[in-house]
Amino acid sequence: MSAAAQQSSMQNWEAYYANLKESYLFPNEFVVRTFLAHYPNLDMPHNYQGAKVCDVSCGDGRNLVLLNKLGLELFATEVSPSICEVTRQKLAQHSDRIAVDIRPGVNYDLPFEGNFFDYMLSWNAIYYMADAQSDFRDHVREHARILKPGGYLVCSVPGPGCFSLRGAQELGNDLIQIQTDSKWNMLNGTIYRRFRDFEDIESTFGEGFEDFRRCTIRDDCYGLPLEYSIFVCRKK
Ligand SMILES: C[S@@+](CC[C@H](N)C(=O)[O-])C[C@H]1O[C@@H](n2cnc3c(N)ncnc32)[C@H](O)[C@@H]1O
Repeated sequence: MSAAAQQSSMQNWEAYYANLKESYLFPNEFVVRTFLAHYPNLDMPHNYQGAKVCDVSCGDGRNLVLLNKLGLELFATEVSPSICEVTRQKLAQHSDRIAVDIRPGVNYDLPFEGNFFDYMLSWNAIYYMADAQSDFRDHVREHARILKPGGYLVCSVPGPGCFSLRGAQELGNDLIQIQTDSKWNMLNGTIYRRFRDFEDIESTFGEGFEDFRRCTIRDDCYGLPLEYSIFVCRKK
């Protein structure tokens, strides 16, 4: 993406979240499941009181509502100061009066010191690339940098069958340019790192993370095919 395209992508997100200002905040069901429930292959400890979490690219803050209820100390990022401000206010006005330190940042440059977090959430965000020359390994290194050793990353990325990837143009190096005719056409032109399968995910994140746990969502949602690869892993 050119600098102009990046600017326009940020403005699209700013307009999107400004329009959501008055909407309700419901956490994603699979974030709830991962942080609260018990499953055969998930052994992430659920004693969150006082631990620090960063919700990277938190959007309107829907998942922070849950993380707050769990007793975590809340930190977050979004791509522009104005989105940070809209979300900070929305959470402050929530019935739970949620306080969060939310700072502008992008996937390759997260505004926190090293070894700071016990948990990180990157929910449908880590694969947004600045441009076609960007190196996804910089995203992996940056996310690992701010987690404590042994800290947990909870992450969701779209799977190959997800509606948002349909029609995308291949750019090489596992990068694609989004071209969707769904209601999410504001994403068109955006560059994603796509993942073929969990082997691809584990080898790509393996430089900084280990002990991967996998979960797949494959859902026909009233005709909209949703497919997401969710994983939990620990900083090496
Ligand atoms: C699909 S939304 C997910 C938002 C939130 N995590 C949620 O689950 O509701 C993708 C988010 O990625 C952010 N984003 C876009 N480009 C980005 C980049 N280069 N680095 C980090 N985040 C980016 C957008 O602002 C947007 O909030």
